Amino acid sequence: MIDIHCHILNGIDDGARDLETAVQMCRIAEMNGIKHIVATPHTTTVDNIGHFLETRDNKIRILRQVLEERGIDVKIYPGAEVFVDDDIFFSNDLKRLTINGSRYILIEFAFRNVKIRKIYDYLNEIINAGLVPIIAHPERYEFFQFDYDAVNSLIRNGVIFQINASSLASFDGLQEFELAYSMAYNGVASFIGTDAHSPVHRANNLSEMMRYFPPDISQYNMQVMVHDAPKAVLTDSPLPQTERKEIRKRGGF
Ligand SMILES: [Fe+2]
Repeated sequence: MIDIHCHILNGIDDGARDLETAVQMCRIAEMNGIKHIVATPHTTTVDNIGHFLETRDNKIRILRQVLEERGIDVKIYPGAEVFVDDDIFFSNDLKRLTINGSRYILIEFAFRNVKIRKIYDYLNEIINAGLVPIIAHPERYEFFQFDYDAVNSLIRNGVIFQINASSLASFDGLQEFELAYSMAYNGVASFIGTDAHSPVHRANNLSEMMRYFPPDISQYNMQVMVHDAPKAVLTDSPLPQTERKEIRKRGGF
């Protein structure tokens, strides 16, 4: 399996506390069938990213070396979780924040008070830069939890999404679960990431968490989300085709 969203690097954001913790998370990954991890530290600004990239690449180099020394069979790739707000309209450096130098860029928004029109403006800005945005954990945003129509309009426009394993395993609350589940079930989530920040808080014990996923998500969709689509990202290829259906809130009309 391939995890395209993980705060595995130490000392760059609120992820792994130190190098030993990062190594411990890699062991958890290995034991849980994750062979490839994209390191996605938070960027808080899309401005002046040279320093961020230098720090990230340095941390990756050190971690890779320790993994090799200790015989841990997990590969680390460069990425970022890019916080998107109005500053994005002034950035011309977005390409440097993509996953493994591909066309794909993992993005997040403020958790409150972001209008859907604004999200379209952000997405268009990224697409106009020649990149493919992946919205990280849509199920965590209240403005999506209570507005499935907004999610459906993004679905119709071909936007792609990464849901968190912990949401799908019901560890993060009912609203998160219901949105993540309907997106996985209906083929509109392209990726399941762990978004792990530590070995304990929203950890990356993926195969363990999978036991708590609803059993009626198709094998095909599961294979796409944990392997085929992430592999396409790492190799900068088009995503596998899935039948994407619109979602409906349970008990809704
Ligand atoms: Fe994250």
